[in-house]
Amino acid sequence: MPQPLPNASDFLPGPVLLLGAPGVGKGTQAQLMMAEFGIPQVSTGDLLRENRRNRTPLGMTADELMNTGQLVPDNLVNDMVSARLQEPDTQHGYILDGFPRTLNQAEWLDRQLVAYMLPVVAICIKVDEATLLKRITGRRISPAGAIYNIYFNPPKVEGICDVDGSKLEQRSDDTEEVFHERMKAFRSKTAAVIDYYRSHGGRFCEVDGDKPVHEVTHEIRKSLLSLRHHPEA
Ligand code: AP5
Repeated sequence: MPQPLPNASDFLPGPVLLLGAPGVGKGTQAQLMMAEFGIPQVSTGDLLRENRRNRTPLGMTADELMNTGQLVPDNLVNDMVSARLQEPDTQHGYILDGFPRTLNQAEWLDRQLVAYMLPVVAICIKVDEATLLKRITGRRISPAGAIYNIYFNPPKVEGICDVDGSKLEQRSDDTEEVFHERMKAFRSKTAAVIDYYRSHGGRFCEVDGDKPVHEVTHEIRKSLLSLRHHPEA
């Protein structure tokens, strides 16, 4: 049984990276951490989808790339992240979900963070590929961003969000075919980012994401407290 989580009211998380392959649970865990630590989730996937919905020039460029599982060019994503990190809610920390995904993005982020109060820490979630495929093809989301899964975390009423009664949707890139392309991009570009943070001693932890959601949350929290040398770790 997981232990109850210690009180985090005096804890300053600073910048936290959630890394891992498509479907490992970055968004699910970022939403829970956001609620607990009072810092925002900055998801590059969500920001790009918002740009797509608003039909901005960035959204139009990203659309085809996202639908085919390829990465959006670094300079466009970096500019988008830069603008988001200038918003006042990020001053005590934030959870970067899905960024950086290339070495170029990681190096850019290091340069941005030089003057930040705390160094970035990276937590990588690991899950085997067969489970990821089921998670991706089974995922359903509400327009407000609640995350469900028809296999692992179904809504009470099929196709309907428990929270606000809205109709659940499936992401256009959550097909088996696009999943394999996303995994290719992960292996060829993002695996090196994980090695990059792993090689920075004391700033990296790996957690097993193939456990119930609350157990993964507990592991991530323990890792974060330990990376920040918090006495409760
Ligand atoms: P993005 O939206 O970031 O997609 P991703 O990284 O592929 O990650 P996902 O959102 O698919 O998964 P997740 O890890 O958040 O899992 P979740 O918590 O939802 O990016 C989409 C696209 O945008 C990219 O392909 C690229 O084109 C572009 N892009 C984004 N960032 C970019 C960047 N930095 N540079 C360039 N391009 C970029 O969980 C998945 C499912 O599993 C859910 O159904 C959930 O309910 C379930 N689940 C979660 N945890 C558990 C658990 N412990 N047990 C059982 N089920 C679970």
